[in-house]
Amino acid sequence: MLPVLLALAASAMPVPPGEQPVDPYAQSDANAGAMRFQGQSMWHAFHEQAGVQRIVDGFVDRDIADPVIGEIFKGQDIVRLRRTLKEQFCYILNGGCAYSGRTMKEAHKNLGIQIKDMNVLVVNLQKAMAAEGVPFFAQNRFLAKLAPMKKDVVVR
Ligand code: HEM
Repeated sequence: MLPVLLALAASAMPVPPGEQPVDPYAQSDANAGAMRFQGQSMWHAFHEQAGVQRIVDGFVDRDIADPVIGEIFKGQDIVRLRRTLKEQFCYILNGGCAYSGRTMKEAHKNLGIQIKDMNVLVVNLQKAMAAEGVPFFAQNRFLAKLAPMKKDVVVR
């Protein structure tokens, strides 16, 4: 019975162009790991859809090229990562997106991420937000939303 249900769930999840299939999972905005902001001020501070796209692309580019954490991204599905990160940021910033990705626990479970890796990733995100001209207070409000996800991302 279970294999049949999983196969059904998988067939209901088409693989977007350029991406690899992943094991079936239940889609939910709750998978994004944070409640979204109220109102539009954070969405505007991040320069809406075009700004979020530039920030995520700059962030992922920095992570891939990073001397400390770059190795963790080798061989991963970066097309999917860019898409789901854009959805996640847009959802949390209350930009009107749904998040279709996996939970933070599920997505990072086999990566062996340590606290030092998380710290480097945060610096890379700060650089990407600064390059977009996101005001400092808005950067910090966003980082405060991501901070509790550490428990699901970092190995204990
Ligand atoms: C709060 C911090 C973090 C957030 C919000 C975040 C967000 C995400 C999201 C949305 C995905 C895609 C989920 C999916 O494919 O369904 C993902 C996957 C991934 N993340 Fe993170 N992440 C965080 C921390 C980290 C850290 C610290 C690293 C490594 C230094 C990392 C490396 C990766 C990699 C390599 C993948 C791809 C995994 C795969 O395709 O199987 N992430 N992350």
